[in-house]
Amino acid sequence: MRGTRFAPRWRLAVLAGVALAVAGCATGQLDATKPIGEDAREIDGLMRLSGWMAVGVGIFVAAAVVTIIVKFRAKPTDDPDDLPPQIHGNRKAELTWTLIPTVMLAFLTVVTIGAVFDLAGAGTGRTIKVEGQQWWWQFSYDVNEDGDFDDDVDIVTANDLVIPVGEEVNLEIHSNDVIHSFWIPQLNGKRDAVPGRVHHWRISSTEPGIFYGECVEFCGLSHANMQMRAIVLEEADFERWLADQQAGRSAAAEPHAEDSAEAAGAALFETHCISCHVVDGVYESAAGGNANLIAGIAPNLTNLMSRTAFAGALYETYVQDADREYVRGSDGKLIVNIAGLREWVRNAPDLKPARADNQQGMLDFSEVLTDQDLDNLMAYLRTLGNEPVLPR
Ligand code: CUA
Repeated sequence: MRGTRFAPRWRLAVLAGVALAVAGCATGQLDATKPIGEDAREIDGLMRLSGWMAVGVGIFVAAAVVTIIVKFRAKPTDDPDDLPPQIHGNRKAELTWTLIPTVMLAFLTVVTIGAVFDLAGAGTGRTIKVEGQQWWWQFSYDVNEDGDFDDDVDIVTANDLVIPVGEEVNLEIHSNDVIHSFWIPQLNGKRDAVPGRVHHWRISSTEPGIFYGECVEFCGLSHANMQMRAIVLEEADFERWLADQQAGRSAAAEPHAEDSAEAAGAALFETHCISCHVVDGVYESAAGGNANLIAGIAPNLTNLMSRTAFAGALYETYVQDADREYVRGSDGKLIVNIAGLREWVRNAPDLKPARADNQQGMLDFSEVLTDQDLDNLMAYLRTLGNEPVLPR
């Protein structure tokens, strides 16, 4: 009877565990089992191969244990002092259970090492610089392909890693503070971002789409809030994105009409934001010259509105429905998540924990900026860049 009394609680615990596990996967945002890139497919293949081998071994061992328990259990007629035949030192048995696992592990070692070398190879496409920061990712594009990322035409962005479909993109992974790890599961495995080192990684996608990623090395308070996404575009769309980034840069440098909300917002931005954020061509001097030279303690906001996400890709820049499809207004344009952006600017540490001593992350402006200030700032921020080029 004891067993039945505890059974419901037991079942509840198992159910709760399963529910939690399933809930963890419910968004399907980080799914290494649905590879889209060549490298991710190779990793997935290896994972499946070793997984199925483990399943085979598991089934064999479980079957053997059950068989032995059933077949060789003591019968009432057995003499309790009568031991079964001892097989210690049986050469055939010893060799069998040594050789089978050895061959299996040797096979897995060979295919694993092959995959490791495959994955370490350089891609044939462009190189993008990736910088891990507490707690967001910066991406720099060497647009004129002169080997550095510091020219005026070069692009610095955050959160969205925009790449063309089918291209083997080389990532040059850096960290500007602590150790992070870059992982977009559907496109490739993990690569650490280590201060003082450059790690190379290759990423590619065979389909256009948005693929979500996450920092996977504990890097401080908002480690879990350090996300990113790869926006994979058709070649023509990617070219359009590149052109858009340059256009956004020119547009940002244009002055705003006097007495407009945008102009008031720009003035507030200059007072409160430019000690951390740069807008190319406007607030570069405050950052000591070419904005691209600055590693940036905060994202470069030149093309803020061209990014699908803000705050370390924690929040969507544009309104989505329950299926994560973008919602468009009657003018056909994406609808800015202005309430979210406004709240973020008002009190960021409330939405994304940073360090208590204000040494990292956005400050709390809730006591500094009035509602009117926030509205003006929003008006200004909305002028920074076009809406994102989305995969089709
Ligand atoms: Cu960066 Cu965890």
